[in-house]
Amino acid sequence: MALVVWCALAFSVPTFAQDGGGDGGAADSAPAAASGAAGLSADQAIIDQGKGLFDANCKQCHAVHEKIVGPALAKVYERRTVPWLVNFIKYPQKTIESGDAYAVALYKEYQQYMPNHDFLKDDEVKAILSWVQAETIKGPATAATAPTAAGGDAAAAAGGSSNSGLLTAIVAGLAFLLIVTLAVLALMAATLSKYLKKETNLSEEDQELLNQRTDWAGIFKSQAFIGITAFIFVALVLKATVEGLITIGVQQGYAPTQPIPFSHKLHAGQYEIDCKYCHTGVEKGKSANIPSANICMNCHNAIKTTSPIIQKIYEHIEKDEPIQWVRVHNLPDLAYFNHQQHVKVAGLDCENCHGNIKEMEVVQQASLLTMGWCIDCHRKTEVNAKDNAYYDNLVQLHAKSSKSPMKVEDIGGLECAKCHY
Ligand code: HEC
Ligand code: HEC
Ligand code: HEC
Ligand code: HEC
Ligand code: HEC
Ligand code: HEC
Repeated sequence: MALVVWCALAFSVPTFAQDGGGDGGAADSAPAAASGAAGLSADQAIIDQGKGLFDANCKQCHAVHEKIVGPALAKVYERRTVPWLVNFIKYPQKTIESGDAYAVALYKEYQQYMPNHDFLKDDEVKAILSWVQAETIKGPATAATAPTAAGGDAAAAAGGSSNSGLLTAIVAGLAFLLIVTLAVLALMAATLSKYLKKETNLSEEDQELLNQRTDWAGIFKSQAFIGITAFIFVALVLKATVEGLITIGVQQGYAPTQPIPFSHKLHAGQYEIDCKYCHTGVEKGKSANIPSANICMNCHNAIKTTSPIIQKIYEHIEKDEPIQWVRVHNLPDLAYFNHQQHVKVAGLDCENCHGNIKEMEVVQQASLLTMGWCIDCHRKTEVNAKDNAYYDNLVQLHAKSSKSPMKVEDIGGLECAKCHY
C-alpha cells in the first residue's frame, strides 16, 4: 500500500509542476474553441494580422494570460460581446463616460483610461480579438510566463526550469518502471500457481508453498521493499533540493519601495546626471556606493526646496540620520564582485548588468545575478586589452596557443577562488 502511495506521489509531481501557469488553461477553454465567439475568425491569416496589430498597439499594456497595465485578455470575448468590445477598444473613454456599468467597474479597478484606437478599422479590431481567442485556446506558454528580461537571462531562466522538468521526468519514469515490473511479476506468479495447481504429483512441501497466501507483512518488511521505498524517497528529496538550489536567492525583477521616491528616470535620464556623480565607488573599488544625503543637497539646497519629499531629506540631515535605502542587488557573502574590475578595467557599461536604469522610476534588479550569469559572460566576453600594458604579455601568450580572441575565461575568470573567498 505504502508503495502505491509513493508511486502515486511520484506520478503526481509532473502535474504539479505544469499546473503553475494559473487559470485560463487549455482544458477549461475547450468549450470556447468549439463554439467560437460570433464574428471572430479561426483563419490563420487573420490571426497573424491580429498578432501584428496587437504587438504594435496593445502589447505595452496587455498580455493574454497575464495582467500588466490592463487586464489579461484571455476569454474577454466571453465576458463581452464582440460589437461591445470593438466599440470599447476604439472609444474606451467615451464608453466609460456613457455610464456603461461594466466599463465603469473596469475603470474603477484600473484607475486609468486606455487610449482611443479609433484609427483601427472594425475588422482590424476583430482580427486582434481573433488572435486573442487563438491564444486563449492555446493556453499560457511557459516561455511567456517566465520573467522577461534581456534575452540571455530569459534563456538562462528557461534553462533552469527545463532542468527540473528533466528531473521530474526521470523520477516519474523510474516509478513507472517499478509499477510495470511489479505488475508483470504478479501476473507471472498468478499464472504459474494456476498451472501448478492442476499438477497432481507435487511433493508435500511444494503443495504447502503453493497454497500459501501472499505474505504482505513479509513483503513490507523485506529488504527489497524497504530499499525501493527509500530510493524513491531519496529521489524525491533530491529533486526538491536541486530545484530549490536552482532558484534560491534569485531575485530578478526585485524592485522594493524606497523610503524616498528617488527617480533614476528623472535624475539620470531626463537631467542626464552621470552615474558616477552619485555612485562614486564604481571606478575605485569593490562597491559602487549609494550616495549620502549630502550629495543630494548639492542640488536640493536650491531645487524644489518646498517639496515635502525634499523636506524629508532635510530632516535626515538635521537629525544626522542616514536615509535607509532598501538594497536591491545583493550577492550572498560567499561571492566576491568588484565594480572597478568590471567598469574601469573591463570598460563595461552599467547597462550590461543593471539594465536600462535611465528609464527606471524605481530601480529593479534586471539580471539574474546567479553564478551561471557571471560565468556565461566570462565565457563570451573578450578581455579589453587595448591600451593596457598589463595584458600585452598575456595576449601574446594566448595568441600562440589559440586563434580565438582572449576571453575572460582565458585569464582565470572561471576559477572558483576568483569569485569565492
Ligand atoms: C496604455 C495602456 C493600454 C493600451 C495601449 C491598451 N489598453 Fe486595453 N486596457 C487598458 C486598461 C487600463 C484597461 C482597463 C479599463 C480601463 O480602465 O479603461 C483596458 C481594458 C481593455 C479591455 C477590456 C478588458 C476586460 O477584461 O473586459 C480590452 C478588451 C482591451 N483593453 C483591449 C485592448 C486592445 C485590443 C488594445 C490595442 C488595440 C489595447 N487594449 C490597448 C490599458 C491599455
Ligand atoms: C543623483 C544621484 C544618482 C544618480 C545620478 C544615479 N543614481 Fe543610482 N542610486 C541613487 C540612489 C539614492 C540609490 C538608492 C535608492 C534606489 O535604489 O533607488 C540608487 C540606487 C542604484 C542602484 C541599485 C542599488 C542597490 O541597492 O542594489 C543601481 C544599480 C543604480 N543606482 C545604478 C545607477 C546607474 C547605472 C546610474 C546612471 C545611469 C545611476 N544609478 C545614477 C542615486 C543616483
Ligand atoms: C545634480 C543635481 C541633483 C542632485 C545631486 C539630486 N537631485 Fe533630485 N532633482 C534634481 C532636479 C533637477 C529635479 C527636478 C526638479 C523639478 O522637477 O523641477 C529633482 C527632483 C527630485 C525629486 C522630486 C521632488 C518632487 O517633489 O517632485 C526627488 C524626490 C529628488 N530629486 C530626490 C533626490 C535625492 C534623494 C537625491 C540624492 C540621492 C537627489 N535628488 C540628488 C536634481 C538633483
Ligand atoms: C559586470 C556587471 C556589473 C556592471 C558592469 C556594473 N554593476 Fe553594479 N552591481 C553588480 C553586481 C553583481 C552588484 C551586487 C554586488 C554585491 O552584492 O556585492 C552590483 C551592485 C551595484 C550597486 C549597489 C551597491 C553596491 O555596490 O553593492 C550599485 C549602486 C551599482 N551596482 C551601480 C553600478 C553603476 C553606477 C555601474 C556603472 C558605472 C555598475 N553598477 C556597473 C554588477 C555590475
Ligand atoms: C557583462 C559581462 C560580465 C558579467 C555579467 C560578469 N563579469 Fe566578471 N568580468 C568581466 C570581464 C570583461 C572581466 C575582465 C576584466 C579584466 O580585464 O580584468 C571580468 C573579470 C572578473 C574577475 C577577475 C578575473 C581575473 O581572472 O582577473 C572576477 C573575480 C569577476 N569578473 C567576477 C564576477 C562575478 C562574481 C560576477 C557575477 C556576480 C561577474 N564577474 C559578472 C565581465 C563580466
Ligand atoms: C565568475 C564568478 C564565479 C566563479 C568563477 C565561480 N563562482 Fe560559484 N558563485 C558565484 C556567485 C555570484 C554565486 C552566488 C549565486 C547566487 O546567489 O545565486 C555563486 C554560488 C556558488 C555556490 C552556492 C550555490 C548556489 O548556486 O547558490 C557554490 C557551491 C559555488 N558557487 C561553487 C563554485 C565552484 C566549486 C566554483 C569553481 C568550479 C565556482 N563556484 C566558481 C560566482 C562564481
